[in-house]
Amino acid sequence: MDTDKYPTESDRRRFVKGVAGGAAMAAISTAGGAAIEATTTGAGTGGGTVTYRAAKNTDGPAPRGLPQIPLELDDDGYLKGIWPEAEERELEDGTTITVAETELGGVTYSTQWFQYCGCQTFQNVQPDGDHDNYMRYSANTRLDWQSSETSIGERVHVDQFDDYAEWGNGIGEDGYGKPANCTWRSQDVDSEETLPIQVIRSTRVERAAEESEWLAESTVDGFIAFLNKCTHFCCIPGFKDSSDAPKFGAANKSYCACHQSVYDPFEVVERSFTALPRPNTDG
Ligand code: FES
Repeated sequence: MDTDKYPTESDRRRFVKGVAGGAAMAAISTAGGAAIEATTTGAGTGGGTVTYRAAKNTDGPAPRGLPQIPLELDDDGYLKGIWPEAEERELEDGTTITVAETELGGVTYSTQWFQYCGCQTFQNVQPDGDHDNYMRYSANTRLDWQSSETSIGERVHVDQFDDYAEWGNGIGEDGYGKPANCTWRSQDVDSEETLPIQVIRSTRVERAAEESEWLAESTVDGFIAFLNKCTHFCCIPGFKDSSDAPKFGAANKSYCACHQSVYDPFEVVERSFTALPRPNTDG
């Protein structure tokens, strides 16, 4: 690996990772009691109230923020979303449930975060689903830079974002962040089960990561990602991909054109919602 191109993590970040790793081991070994509010009902399994980290919804009818996806870079500079190892867990009523969750930066990150808008039925959102975790460029983009400089399905590489600190496209202010429309865990599934992902690299994310243990662990080199399904009616919002966005106060935010919901990808907040149950395939 070229360490000039792919800067090594700061000492602080390495330290935080070490602490979080230890906490994760402890949490998993005692997690049965904590048992997430996972339920198994006739309607399915693994639904219930869950607390998550979100890009804050700041305007419009969206009831809550977009769920964040923790990220990492591999040794060659390719961007990956983190999917925790699945494990079996026994509920109080004696039934068994499969969960994929881990302690990360002081937060319990669970794949329940993505169980809404129909995604709860997708193969690639089942906790033990074995899918490709690299972020890949989507065919569905209105970003000129992405259409002209990348190929559909290509893995996202850090070098493609070298200009992130000053990037702009005439929508809002330059230098807020460079976006890409991506997919995740969707290489080998039916097209209707594709997970749309918003990836942004921004100096704002880098600065926020210096102040937050969670963001230090869940973002990498200024990259942040969200499941890009509007929490209103499941449309796909966009960051700097609509000339209408400034009219709705979203020049430097994510804007959903369906009913004008606005999300701030640089304001990550804690929220709760009721994760929808997955199809009942657990024992
Ligand atoms: S604002 Fe209605 S689907 Fe996004």
